[in-house]
Amino acid sequence: MSTQPKRPRRCQLSVPGSSEKMMTKAAGLEIDHVFLDLEDAVAPNAKPAARGMVVDAINSLDWRPRTVCVRINDVETEWCHDDIIEVVTGAGAKLDTIMLTKAKSATDVMFVHLMLDQLEQKLKLANRIGIECLIEEVEGMMNVDEIAACSDRLECLVFGMGDYSASQEMQISTVGATGGYPPDLWHYPRYKMTIACRANGIDPVDGPYANFRNPEGYLKEAQRAHILGMDGKWAIHPAQVELANRVFTPDAGALASARAQKAAYDEALAQGLGAINVDGVMIDAASIRIVKSLLDRADLIGI
Ligand code: COA
Ligand code: MG
Repeated sequence: MSTQPKRPRRCQLSVPGSSEKMMTKAAGLEIDHVFLDLEDAVAPNAKPAARGMVVDAINSLDWRPRTVCVRINDVETEWCHDDIIEVVTGAGAKLDTIMLTKAKSATDVMFVHLMLDQLEQKLKLANRIGIECLIEEVEGMMNVDEIAACSDRLECLVFGMGDYSASQEMQISTVGATGGYPPDLWHYPRYKMTIACRANGIDPVDGPYANFRNPEGYLKEAQRAHILGMDGKWAIHPAQVELANRVFTPDAGALASARAQKAAYDEALAQGLGAINVDGVMIDAASIRIVKSLLDRADLIGI
C-alpha cells in the first residue's frame, strides 16, 4: 500500500524536457500536475542534454503548489539509471514524483524504488519521492495486479494507450482514438487497471489523446475514464487542460446533492434508519460510499 500523500491529478500535462519554451509555458498553466518528459517526446540524441534542462526548469521556474514529476526512460534502455541519478541529484528536493515508462513487472518498479532509496540517503533528502507508472505494454497489463501492489512509493498507474495499442498490435491510426471497435476499445484495459489501483489505494489515470484539435473526441474519452472511476487524464497540449479539469472536477450540482444526501442519511442513522427515501431515490450505506468518493475528491482540490 502506498504511504505517499494523495495528490490531485485531474489533468497531468506532458511537456517535452528538451523544450525550455514549453516547460516555461507549463509552469504558468492552471493544472494539478505537470510531467517533464525525458522519454518519447525527446529524441535519443537530445536525451543527455534534456536531463540538465529539466533540472534547471524544476529549480528555476515557479511551479506553485502543483505536482512536479519527471518521466524517465524504461529499465531496458541505456538511459534509465542516468535519468534517475541526474534528475534526483540535481533537483530531488523539489521533485514530487518520478514516472516510469513501459513497466512490465514489479521488478521494473522496484529498480526505481531502490535507486530512490539509495539517492535519498546519499543526498539526505527530507522529501520522499513517489513513483508513477505507465501500464502500456501487454506484459504490464498482464502483471498489473503485482505492479500495483509492489511499492509503497507508488502513487498512480497510467493507462498509456499509445504504446499499449502498438504492443498489442491494434490496427488504429491515431493515439488515443478508439476507431470503429464496438463499443469501446479501451474498456477492458482501463477497467482492469482501475480495479488494480483501487484495490491497492493508488490513483488510476487515463493517458493521452493525440488529436489536440478534437475537443469532442477528447471529452468523450475523458468522460468514459471518469465514470469508470479514474482520477484524471493526460493532456499533451494546453488546449486539453481545461477539458480534463472540466470533466474531473466535481460538478457543483452533484456536489450539493451529495452533501444533502449525506446530511439526510446522517440524520436517518441517528433515528435508527438504514435506508431512506431522498426525492424518490433509495439511499443506503452503499449510496453513501459512492457519495463519499465525490466528497473526498472535492476535499482534495479544496472546493
Ligand atoms: N506543454 C507546454 N506548452 C505546450 C505544449 C505542451 N505539451 N504543447 C504546446 N505548447 C505550447 C506551444 O509552445 C505554443 O506556445 P506559444 O503560444 O507560446 O507559441 C502553444 O502551446 C500552442 O501550441 P501549438 O502551436 O498549437 O502546437 P505546437 O505545434 O507548438 O506543438 C506538439 C504541438 C504536439 C508538438 C506539442 O503539443 C507537444 O510537444 N506535446 C507534448 C508531446 C509529448 O509530451 N509527448 C509524449 C507524451 S504522449
Ligand atoms: Mg509510451
